[in-house]
Amino acid sequence: MPFARLHGGVESAEDDGWSAPVDAPWELTDGVVRLRRWRPDDAEWIHGVCQDAEIQRWTRIPVPYTRADAEWFVDVFVPQAWDRGEEFHLVATDVATDARLGSVGLVLVPGAPGVGEVGYYTAPEGRNQGVASASVDLVAAWAFGVLGLVRLELHIDPRNTPSLAVARRCGFELEGILRSRAEHRGARRDVALHARLQS
Ligand SMILES: CC(C)(COP(=O)(O)OP(=O)(O)OC[C@H]1O[C@@H](n2cnc3c(N)ncnc32)[C@H](O)[C@@H]1OP(=O)(O)O)[C@@H](O)C(=O)NCCC(=O)NCCS
Repeated sequence: MPFARLHGGVESAEDDGWSAPVDAPWELTDGVVRLRRWRPDDAEWIHGVCQDAEIQRWTRIPVPYTRADAEWFVDVFVPQAWDRGEEFHLVATDVATDARLGSVGLVLVPGAPGVGEVGYYTAPEGRNQGVASASVDLVAAWAFGVLGLVRLELHIDPRNTPSLAVARRCGFELEGILRSRAEHRGARRDVALHARLQS
């Protein structure tokens, strides 16, 4: 049964009986960047990269970010959310070197059939080389083509210039500024709501 239909979404464009291949090796690639599922041995890398001030400033990871947070993420949260068909979190790696470059995740928005939200970060040393843009494009193609989603959203702080650039590069349109929409580290923040539709 197509995955999106399991969750009340629209039917997949390819109604091929796809179900979440939770145990199978799984990847998406454009030949330069590869997205694969997180593994337990990624915890050390996540812990290191999530000390970055920009990732802590703009994403919803816990702060301080501990090794236990990283281990819980890869060992518990990611596989359980994947198995429930609610969230799909992936690591972006370099096809040539297999080095880890960043993170991208797709969350099916509860109560909004056919709608997903994408979040991402890139390790500081890998920025401005198109990693996040490639990752979002790969996830979007999978979400629209395989999961049958019809709308993907990016929720971006209007001050986060690099993330706004990723949205533009990946064909997301700004639909509006949601004032004081998010609570972040004890303060209210605006959200620049961007969306891309299945074409
Ligand atoms: C946002 C982020 C994921 C972008 O990752 P990335 O792999 O560098 O992204 P890309 O290389 O695909 O694109 C980066 C774009 O930002 C632009 N950019 C980077 N810094 C910029 C700045 N200070 N001002 C303006 N544009 C900037 C780059 O020029 C590029 O746009 P372009 O291709 O139009 O020139 C990365 O900066 C990051 O991890 N930030 C912290 C976490 C975060 O903000 N996550 C998103 C939350 S919504």
